[in-house]
Amino acid sequence: MKQTSVKPAEGKLGIMIVGNGAVATTFMTGVLMTRKGLAKPVGSMTQYDKMRVGRGADAKYLKYSDIVPLARLDDIVFGCWDVYPQNAFQSAMYCEVLKEKDILPVRDELEKIVPMKAAFDKNYAKRLDGDNVKDCKTRWEMVEALREDIRQFKAANECARIVVLWAASTEIYVPVYEPVHGTLAALEAAMKANDCEHVAPSMCYAYAALSEGAPFIMGAPNTTVDIPAMWELSDKTRMPIAGKDFKTGQTLVKSGFSPIIGTRCLGLSGWFSTNILGNRDGLVLDEPANFRTKEVSKLSTLETILKPSAQPDLYGHGNDEDTQYYHKVRINYYPPRNDNKEGWDNIDIFGWMGYPMQIKINFLCRDSILAAPLCLDLCLLSDLAARAGRYGIQRFLSFFLKSPMHDYTKNEEPVNHLYQQYTMLKNAIREMGGYEADEEID
Ligand SMILES: NC(=O)c1ccc[n+]([C@@H]2O[C@H](COP(=O)([O-])OP(=O)(O)OC[C@H]3O[C@@H](n4cnc5c(N)ncnc54)[C@H](O)[C@@H]3O)[C@@H](O)[C@H]2O)c1
Repeated sequence: MKQTSVKPAEGKLGIMIVGNGAVATTFMTGVLMTRKGLAKPVGSMTQYDKMRVGRGADAKYLKYSDIVPLARLDDIVFGCWDVYPQNAFQSAMYCEVLKEKDILPVRDELEKIVPMKAAFDKNYAKRLDGDNVKDCKTRWEMVEALREDIRQFKAANECARIVVLWAASTEIYVPVYEPVHGTLAALEAAMKANDCEHVAPSMCYAYAALSEGAPFIMGAPNTTVDIPAMWELSDKTRMPIAGKDFKTGQTLVKSGFSPIIGTRCLGLSGWFSTNILGNRDGLVLDEPANFRTKEVSKLSTLETILKPSAQPDLYGHGNDEDTQYYHKVRINYYPPRNDNKEGWDNIDIFGWMGYPMQIKINFLCRDSILAAPLCLDLCLLSDLAARAGRYGIQRFLSFFLKSPMHDYTKNEEPVNHLYQQYTMLKNAIREMGGYEADEEID
């Protein structure tokens, strides 16, 4: 490894996960199984991807861990919070994502991961009724209790560093509300005044993590850290934040496939995405207020890749007076499929002289199997970013996220194009590794 200014990944890395459901347990089980040599971490960029560093005769293709100091899987310690008290083994069995044979070899380790009491408000996820919940009078008390959890976990497990990852249910939609979310002082005042309408429990987790010197990653589409008040806190504490919403199935396909249409200057008149999903995530998203949060996140992907304003002939059509192609996203709760989501995309495109054509994509995926490697990569890379002295929104992590954070107060546009995101990811790793960032396609 070249000389870099990034601090080494010494000591244990505590990964504290909000939620102990399908994604969290699939992630933890996979890491523990990989550590024992009983599974392969397929889909993880930090474990498999290789990238070029140097040019011409100096070019080399290296794994990330040969370029930058990444935490090793052996150094990870897991903790979690959940509304339900079942330990990680019981929850992994309940979720039925993985087969028993892939869980039992790490049963002992999973049983030791017992969720701490959740900072929870039923109004934010009406369909959940667990009682492993903190008794807090205000949002500020939630923050203080969570900070104490983080401190205790860190000390008890002798961790050198902590990362907090949200893999809990999608909360109801909390639109950005300037008087509360605009500044850190306003957010703190609202927490102390127990403004439950504008301060979601997830904001308390994020506030607690950043204040305890831990990066925070938002894996659901919640607004949580996507507000100026949290950007201010992450600047103040010099901690990285990343979000929102893991880019796993349908949106991965969308952000990878839509560049084909754009690159060949074909037209788009409509994109209809629907899917069926039967796990607890699907149950929560069956509630219209929770689905709204997801819908906003899923809809944002296409608009920055196929831009009506840049190509009105190609993307300026549609049934809205002044906008664009018709874009619709649906999620249907359908219990028999559990975590095995099936997605259908119908894409109406048009070509030479406006002649219409159709493309159909049918993705029979496994939600948590796709999300688990993202959890690992986001945690390891956020920890890396913190050691590299990077703080605030980590745009290089957009590759993993459906609705990447960006400074919308300055009209900044998010990058949704999968291959541009990949370039951003590689360049950030190159830079942190002491190499020149470059734009070449390789
Ligand atoms: N799997 C994917 O492909 C994917 C993709 C993008 C986003 N996500 C998001 O990841 C999240 C997790 O998905 P999942 O399939 O594991 O869901 P899940 O329902 O299996 O697990 C979520 C867990 O979070 C717990 N929880 C809810 N609110 C909490 C709180 N305030 N504090 C602590 N725990 C809380 C719930 O009790 C539940 O056990 C969801 O928000 C989902 O939308 C998943």
